[in-house]
Amino acid sequence: MTTAHQLPLSSPWRQDFPVLNTQVHDKPLVYLDTAATAQTPDPVIRRMEHFYRHEYSNVHRGNHQLSMTATENMEQVRHQVAGFINAPDARSIVFTKGTTEAINLVAQTFVRSQLQPGDEIIVTEMDHHANLVPWQMAAQALQLKIKVWPVTPSGELETSDLKKLITDKTRFLAVTHVSNVLGTINPVHEYIQVARQHQMAVLVDGAQAVLHQKVDVQALDCDFYVFSAHKLYGPTGTGVLFVKPHRYSQMPPWEGGGAMIDKVVLPLGTTFNKPPLCFEAGTPNIAGILGMGAAISYLMETGIDAICRHENNILNYCLAQLQSVDDVVIYGNPKSRTGCLAFNLSSHHAYDVGTFFDHYGIAIRTGHHCAMPLIERLGQNSVCRASFGMYTNKQDIDRFISALHQIKALLD
Ligand code: ALA
Repeated sequence: MTTAHQLPLSSPWRQDFPVLNTQVHDKPLVYLDTAATAQTPDPVIRRMEHFYRHEYSNVHRGNHQLSMTATENMEQVRHQVAGFINAPDARSIVFTKGTTEAINLVAQTFVRSQLQPGDEIIVTEMDHHANLVPWQMAAQALQLKIKVWPVTPSGELETSDLKKLITDKTRFLAVTHVSNVLGTINPVHEYIQVARQHQMAVLVDGAQAVLHQKVDVQALDCDFYVFSAHKLYGPTGTGVLFVKPHRYSQMPPWEGGGAMIDKVVLPLGTTFNKPPLCFEAGTPNIAGILGMGAAISYLMETGIDAICRHENNILNYCLAQLQSVDDVVIYGNPKSRTGCLAFNLSSHHAYDVGTFFDHYGIAIRTGHHCAMPLIERLGQNSVCRASFGMYTNKQDIDRFISALHQIKALLD
């Protein structure tokens, strides 16, 4: 039997990420904060630089060569994104600023136009604030009822608990694919099948999922799927909303401005572009979208399966090492986990532990992780989180564990 110690733990892709050569507090950086944002590989940096150096222009606005090329290249990324998540059609891809904007868009368009006072939305105790607060705001404005799907002690969402929450007033489910704190991989396909039996629409937040596994929105059968480029080795300020095509007719435009219109008439009577463009008012983050395209190309060329195997080996190795440190509490014990581990060192405050890690050149995240209800459910006000990417090596984990022993000795 292969033990965690014998698994191949060296990342063949690490040299593609220039920032990993940085020194922090005069020590080589150990970056264990990929769940907050993934580092950027050279091809993505080069693609954005190339755009600014050689191709820079606005899109969907000009009939000069540069503008037409920029438009073509940006629209090519829409096709690429569709292929990446197996969307049926590039038109089902809306470019957004990120996961948060994509969720707010659905709350402000679909939910506002389709739900009636008294209707119910199910949210989960596992989700981060981006997949909670927009629903609360819509609920307040429309007199909807928010129902909360609790997390089990093992850090999972049981389908049986979902079934108990559904009534004939339940119209919508918002659920994360992978927990940003516990790393739990939720069987969202199972949840969606339940929702289908009750004619509910489902939004899946894939922010923490797309970098760790293949996603197929048609196999999932979700209505909406959202993610950010910066958690996929792309740039910040860019993201994706997948919309199941027939839902577009239930979504009026939300932000008004250029590019989203067909004909502007005064004083009233403006008509709108077809989706997805009617949801993309103003000049988009063109360089960011091209960078996202480069990130997807890089991942496809590298092979998602190979990346997943490496990350799972790293996660299992880190879990085994962490479990061997006295007085470390690891949160959650899900059947299926990816990307990160949440923990505390006895009763020491996570901020103190994180500050010491930083002193050793090790970047982890501490705090509520934008998921206050989950942290409260864990009985904490703050936890530490180590999160992994395709570049994480055995040496990173060994330095992390060695530092943890030293921090323990200092704080105990
Ligand atoms: N939701 C991101 C994280 O988990 C920001 O750190």
